[in-house]
Amino acid sequence: MASEQGPHSRILGIGAYAPERVLTNLELEKMVDTSDQWITERTGIKQRHIAREDETASDMALAAARRALEMAGLKPTDLDMIIVGTISGDVPMPACAAYLQHKLGAGPIPSFDVSAACAGFLYAMSIADQFIRSALHKHVLIVGVELLSRVIDWQDRTTCVLFGDGAGAAVLGPAVGDGRGVLSTKLYTDATLAESLCIPAGGSRERITAAALEARRDKVHMVGGDIFKVAVKNLSSASRSALTDAGMSADSVRWVVPHQANMRIITQVAARLDIPLERFVINIERYGNTSSASIPIALDEGVRDGRIKPGDTVLMCALGAGISWGSALVRM
Ligand code: ACO
Repeated sequence: MASEQGPHSRILGIGAYAPERVLTNLELEKMVDTSDQWITERTGIKQRHIAREDETASDMALAAARRALEMAGLKPTDLDMIIVGTISGDVPMPACAAYLQHKLGAGPIPSFDVSAACAGFLYAMSIADQFIRSALHKHVLIVGVELLSRVIDWQDRTTCVLFGDGAGAAVLGPAVGDGRGVLSTKLYTDATLAESLCIPAGGSRERITAAALEARRDKVHMVGGDIFKVAVKNLSSASRSALTDAGMSADSVRWVVPHQANMRIITQVAARLDIPLERFVINIERYGNTSSASIPIALDEGVRDGRIKPGDTVLMCALGAGISWGSALVRM
């Protein structure tokens, strides 16, 4: 939502974390019937990070959150709310955000997960912006974290080569009237393609039986082609809507930080938006698709290496299971 008075919340700090272990395409060649050439040409991915066996989603979120708090110059006890975008939390219940609240040492503040798959970080940003805009909360921690290596089928070459583990976080606080902050967020869901990207078993619809385990229905199933087409279309239209909402044109966008699912999707979105690829922050080759963590990891990289500067207008867009998608326009 745009506002006549200008932005109400801004990003005070960001942080990211990726597990140390790197799994390369060449290693994957030994695990499934694939090749470095196929993965590189079809997706742009060369490697991905994989969590340690004893690492949980909230551990990774904690590392990213601490870095974001440090940049913001805030303590965990300064936080008023925690929102975690994830579909691979520590346990089905309770929320990953609850474990994160405890590990951080934050107060007894509202802490909850948002299930919007790859769009989770943008959903969290939009919700945080509304709470700050309404002056109900001052400092909100938002996190995108995924430990997808635990929920993908390592025997399915059509999915296992795509994903990686990681976390990214941001602390949002009130804008100070200098024009910097969240200018617009747009969120959408359309379940027409819900079955094309889902984990079929493990919820109220289908139990995890021996047969379900045998058929690997407790793992991610995806019809990649279906998602590809809708991704290009919806990421482009959501990006345009965010710009229209803020009364801005693509020319005023300094950087685009897109969800990193497939280099071919990013290239086609760039063409549709008529924004040169040089203005996109892309790190898919090193991380793969980290779902809700992909935007904050790329944003963190762009800020810390000096590409994204204070005052730059950054456009973010993501799409994932649901199908849920969204965009955000932020003046950093
Ligand atoms: N190695 C070698 N060959 C493979 C592999 C692999 N890893 N995977 C598939 N193939 C084969 C297929 O079997 C097929 O062979 P065939 O022609 O003999 O049948 C051929 O390659 C082409 O397969 P396609 O699925 O048509 O390949 P496509 O070009 O569509 O690329 C991909 C697949 C990369 C998955 C693409 O469709 C994509 O990126 N989709 C969108 C993914 C996405 O954005 N997901 C949303 C976010 S994820 C989330 O929300 C958790």
